[in-house]
Formats: sequence, C-alpha cells, structure tokens
Amino acid sequence: MHEWLTHPQRLPMVGPSILAADFAEMGEQCRRALEAGGDFLHLDVMDGHFVPNLTMGPDMCRAIRRHLPDARLDVHLMVERPEMYFEPFAEAGANAISFHVEVLAEADPLGTMREWGERVRDLGCAPGLVINPPTNLLDDHLELFQLADLALVMSVNPGFGGQSFIAEVLGKCRRLRDALPETTRIEIDGGIDPSTVREATDAGADMLVAGSAIFRKPIETWADRISQIRGG
Ligand code: DX5
Ligand code: ZN
Repeated sequence: MHEWLTHPQRLPMVGPSILAADFAEMGEQCRRALEAGGDFLHLDVMDGHFVPNLTMGPDMCRAIRRHLPDARLDVHLMVERPEMYFEPFAEAGANAISFHVEVLAEADPLGTMREWGERVRDLGCAPGLVINPPTNLLDDHLELFQLADLALVMSVNPGFGGQSFIAEVLGKCRRLRDALPETTRIEIDGGIDPSTVREATDAGADMLVAGSAIFRKPIETWADRISQIRGG
C-alpha cells in the first residue's frame, strides 16, 4: 500500500513544505510544486502547544486532496495529542502521518508507539516517527523507529519555516540509516536548501523536505531548485 515509501521510483525524494507557500494561492502552488518535480507535499500541523505556532488542520489537507487527487500527502503532526488527529487526517486524504517521539507516553513509549503505529496503518496511512534536535537518540528509541515507515529527523527546532539548518542532527540520520531496514525512509526537515542538502544525503537522508528554498523563490525557478536539492 505504501510502495511509494518502501519501494520508491526514485531516491532521494523531495517534498515541498507548503508552510512556505502563498496560502491565498494554495491549490495552484501545490500543483506547480509537483509539476516542478516534487515527489510529495509536506503538511506542517501545529497546535500552539507542542510548538508556539498555529498552522493548518484537516480541512487544508482535504482541499489539497480534492484539487490534486494523485498527490502524496505527508502530514507532520507537531501537536501534543496526535492520536486525536489520525482519523481526521486519514479521512482528509493523508498518505503518511508522523508524530513526535517527544509526545509518546513517558511510562510506556513502546506500547504507545505500537498502538499509534497500528492505528495509522489501519487507517490506510504510513506511520512516521519524528525526533527534535535537542532530543538524543537513545538505544531504546531504535525499537520505536523500527515500527515506523519513516524516521523524520528535525534539522531545526520545529515551529517555523525559514530557520537555519542544525548540522549536529546528522549523527542521528547516520545512526538511524544503519539501524533501520532499507525500506524505511530517513526524512530530514528544516533549513534544507541546495547548500545544506548534500551533507544530509551523505548521512543517509532520502526524503528531503524543503519549504523556503522552493516556495520563497520565483516560481519559474522551482524545477531547478528541486532538482538541485535532489542532487541532479
Ligand atoms: C518546521 C517545519 C518544516 C518547515 C521547513 O517546524 O516542520 O517542515 O516548513 O521549512 P524550511 O524548509 O523553510 O526550513
Ligand atoms: Zn515539517
């Protein structure tokens, strides 16, 4: 069901992050970003609690799904209670749904990961697990990531687009790439542009999210920007 992730047609994949798009032109901006070579669209969902910002909910996802029936929609939940939103986003057309390791129940992270991962799968979506820059990747975390289809390494502190890449997270990419099966994607998110991306792919990242580096540039340059990020 998730062959686009487990057995993708090409790697690395590039995912324009629509947080940096012009919200008044969202449908058209998404269409142009895919036409320019984007492999999937990345949707940043923020609740004002887990991070100090508010962005978009399932209705945005649904509107994009209606406009672009074949798009791959990668939903990144930066929220305290992600389990409240699995069903709404799945119904709204999400293909992948990621939640943070920092919000798994402290008393039983593995049990929570099993339960949430299965719920996301039962809804027909691919589960992803995200780790923030200040969170150390512990041995115990590896078995949590084993249960995800994608491991998302944040390379900025989440909350806002347009921040600088934090290179210290690359060790986590390498460690996850070594520990996880080849079919698990290593996604990197934050501060990715043509100058920072190479060290991320060298560290094993193969799903590259970029917001400002695409949407904040003139639309006629998007295809070039995306191919530079991919490494072409
Ligand atoms: C940050 C978000 C990112 C963000 C990336 O909280 O998770 O997806 O949109 O934006 P850029 O590429 O501008 O750093
Ligand atoms: Zn994101």
